[in-house]
Amino acid sequence: MLQVNVELKERRYPIIIGEGILAQVASYSPLKAGDKVMIVSNPTVAFHYLETVTRTLTELGCQVDSVLIPDGEEHKNLDSLNLIFTALLEKNHNRDSTLIALGGGVIGDVAGYAAASYQRGIRFIQIPTTLLAQVDSSVGGKTAVNHPLGKNMIGAFYQPISVIVDTNTLATLPKREVSAGLAEVIKYGAIFDIAFFEWLEKHIDDLVSLKQDELEYCIQRCCQLKADVVARDETEKGDRALLNLGHTFGHAIEARMGYGVWLHGEAVAVGMLEATALSHILGDLNVEDVARLEKLLARANLPTISPDGMEPEEYLPYMWRDKKVLNGQLRLILLKSLGQAYVSAKATEQQVLESIEHFTQR
Ligand SMILES: NC(=O)c1ccc[n+]([C@@H]2O[C@H](COP(=O)([O-])OP(=O)(O)OC[C@H]3O[C@@H](n4cnc5c(N)ncnc54)[C@H](O)[C@@H]3O)[C@@H](O)[C@H]2O)c1
Ligand SMILES: [Zn+2]
Repeated sequence: MLQVNVELKERRYPIIIGEGILAQVASYSPLKAGDKVMIVSNPTVAFHYLETVTRTLTELGCQVDSVLIPDGEEHKNLDSLNLIFTALLEKNHNRDSTLIALGGGVIGDVAGYAAASYQRGIRFIQIPTTLLAQVDSSVGGKTAVNHPLGKNMIGAFYQPISVIVDTNTLATLPKREVSAGLAEVIKYGAIFDIAFFEWLEKHIDDLVSLKQDELEYCIQRCCQLKADVVARDETEKGDRALLNLGHTFGHAIEARMGYGVWLHGEAVAVGMLEATALSHILGDLNVEDVARLEKLLARANLPTISPDGMEPEEYLPYMWRDKKVLNGQLRLILLKSLGQAYVSAKATEQQVLESIEHFTQR
């Protein structure tokens, strides 16, 4: 079992990472006999894991209720939020209740926002069950639902009281989702930590095949890197933006292809390559480093070329809508070297197109 602490100004909370710890949620959370708990999940995840979590908390002496929202990004919306509020009210949950998110990033984001707003805020525990949620979305306190006019448009910064990561849950996760999570893992190495990037070059096959020790170390390292940046910049006014490496390009792919056609991590993989090619064009990164990243992503079974039929020009309208655009300038995350990212507005549109062209099939 490994642990990372997220140190915030007003308080700290632990991320506990271990194999099979779902069955011991009671001992790894601050819950006690008499507490009221509402578990939020979806039918896919509930089928595998709801019973275990319910049992361990019931044995502890908690009142345990649960509510399931439909599976899928398209249900990360106000209707699902309302389902949660209704369940909380029907079961007479009050300000002392605790909400538990059991699932991937969608469940974590919706349940987190429900916890932030139910009776002006109740305690919240994350039990992330996708690799993406374990290394990224469950850490840092961003919560949100989508609006028909935009993704993540309604939300809040709201931190959990603890995060419990059972690496065994990845055994039931579709392989494609595991790879999508690995894109974010590789991202941490590329942005912050060359030593971790090199560790990934040695161990990527172990991660793909879900070797437990390597998984635990990897998740711990990613959570630590994210916790550090969140501690420095909880509300994304500075450094935290670096976590968006490849995301401005990636969001263009996701939106252009239609949400869900390319998984977020798949789009980010290609986006990171385009961002590193751009870093090379701007003279920061050598061509061997771009190739190293490309090879690592390929070994994680991620795409390394832009979607078939998507022309470089088609990225631009989406990229201009990015939250980081400031005073009419595209602000992108670039690399000075592998392991060292920075925000820059110096790339011209022509250079952006050239970097995308490099990963476009002809
Ligand atoms: N809050 C943040 O900081 C942050 C960061 C990154 C992403 N996100 C959000 O996270 C969401 C994506 O999260 P995701 O990639 O986890 O997708 P997801 O939550 O949709 O999960 C992917 C699929 O895997 C299923 N699943 C989950 N755990 C499983 C398991 N153990 N076994 C079998 N199936 C399982 C889910 O039901 C779903 O069908 C997006 O909405 C994104 O905006 C938030
Ligand atoms: Zn991402």
